[in-house]
Amino acid sequence: MDRIVIDGGAPLRGEVQVSGSKNATLPIMTAALLADSPTTLHNVPELRDTHMMADILRALGARVDLAGGVMRVDPSAFNVAEAPYDMVRKMRASIYVLAPMLMRLGKAKVSQPGGCAICPRPIDLHLKGMKALAADVSLDHGYIVVENRAMKGAEVSLTGPNGSSVGATANTVMMAALTPGETIIRGAAHEPEIAELARFLRAMGADVEGEGSSTMRIRGVQALKGCEYSIIPDRIEAGTFFCAAAITEGDVVVRGVEVAHLEAVIDKLSEMGVYVAAEDGAVRVACDGPPRPVSIRTLPFPGFPTDLQAQFMALLSLADGCSTIIETIYQERFIHVPELQRMGAQIRLAGGQAIIEGVKKLAGAPVMASDLRASAALVVACLAAEGLTDVHRVYHIDRGYEAIETKLSGLGANIRRVSTTRKNGNG
Ligand code: UD1
Repeated sequence: MDRIVIDGGAPLRGEVQVSGSKNATLPIMTAALLADSPTTLHNVPELRDTHMMADILRALGARVDLAGGVMRVDPSAFNVAEAPYDMVRKMRASIYVLAPMLMRLGKAKVSQPGGCAICPRPIDLHLKGMKALAADVSLDHGYIVVENRAMKGAEVSLTGPNGSSVGATANTVMMAALTPGETIIRGAAHEPEIAELARFLRAMGADVEGEGSSTMRIRGVQALKGCEYSIIPDRIEAGTFFCAAAITEGDVVVRGVEVAHLEAVIDKLSEMGVYVAAEDGAVRVACDGPPRPVSIRTLPFPGFPTDLQAQFMALLSLADGCSTIIETIYQERFIHVPELQRMGAQIRLAGGQAIIEGVKKLAGAPVMASDLRASAALVVACLAAEGLTDVHRVYHIDRGYEAIETKLSGLGANIRRVSTTRKNGNG
């Protein structure tokens, strides 16, 4: 199992390029199976998750090639309508295969994803979307079993107790694209990755409108065609580099950024006294002292993203005063707190909020990555910590950050990956 070793304290300087968005790529890869001809995707990030999704699509019969950020998905031999537990448990986003199975093969049997390290993750809104379109849905021994006997467009609201669901909106839009009649989704997720999926579906010939707003309207078409498409930049990777620049009191230009996707994040950094200047798809972030404390409340887009909460907590642990973070999307998403505390951060959890009392310095310590964004937060903290830090279980970070150590060392960080090969004959 690989680990990352960081000798903290070096201010980051220079330029770094953001990769394509993981959360946009995953549904788009599965949406490519809705078509009857091949799709070529550009700016695809090479990540554990995109490779895993490629393996899943291959197991369903599709041909998938990925090299140099270009992915070709050929759905001509897509013929498997089942995604077993072993496939789905590794990546929650594999639930996205439901839509193409149902719409192209007439049925789908997909293992119900369980909870995850973050917290329980229900799927009621996914089921609501399918049922609204008149799919026959049943739950059988941990599997979602769905049949398309006479699906038809309908009006459905996908607002849940914590706001709209990105995943349920994506699955419903994909299904509606090939469902006869008109579907209206109320309470659709506003996230840029949903808007990207809508644009991709349109490029394949779908009739979708209203992306980026709460109401999406989809008129089902008979067939979709493969297309050529370039994926938007990863706003969460960009935001993670902003934190890394600020916490090390560095000066970094992050290139390939879609600024409109990061307004809440940029506003928060400015409030913290961090210098942020956006120009021509690049954002310069510079800082020459501890940030000012702030209050953060995670919210659906365009609010502050839950996927940057942990990285900002790392940054705020060195702020000049007391900050608070309220997590409204995943109320229990605080598993990074004990690891940050081991590095000397002063953080208390009380009533669903984190209270972060800024300290003068963090100290290197062996820490354990527990999920994707928590591990990114640990790397951010380590970059500023005194002494050596070992981040274990970095496969979590490899799920969503392309070449993280190469990009950070290009900015002057003392970071290296150590691969541990087991000597038991199994390699
Ligand atoms: C996606 C992102 C994830 C991000 C999250 C919120 C991908 C692959 N993942 O996850 O990185 O953190 O959006 O921005 O794009 N919910 C229900 N019922 C459901 C589905 C969700 O109540 O059927 C709740 C969830 O528990 C959560 C909230 O809705 O509180 C948002 O979840 P959702 O938007 O569905 O997240 P994902 O699509 O799983």
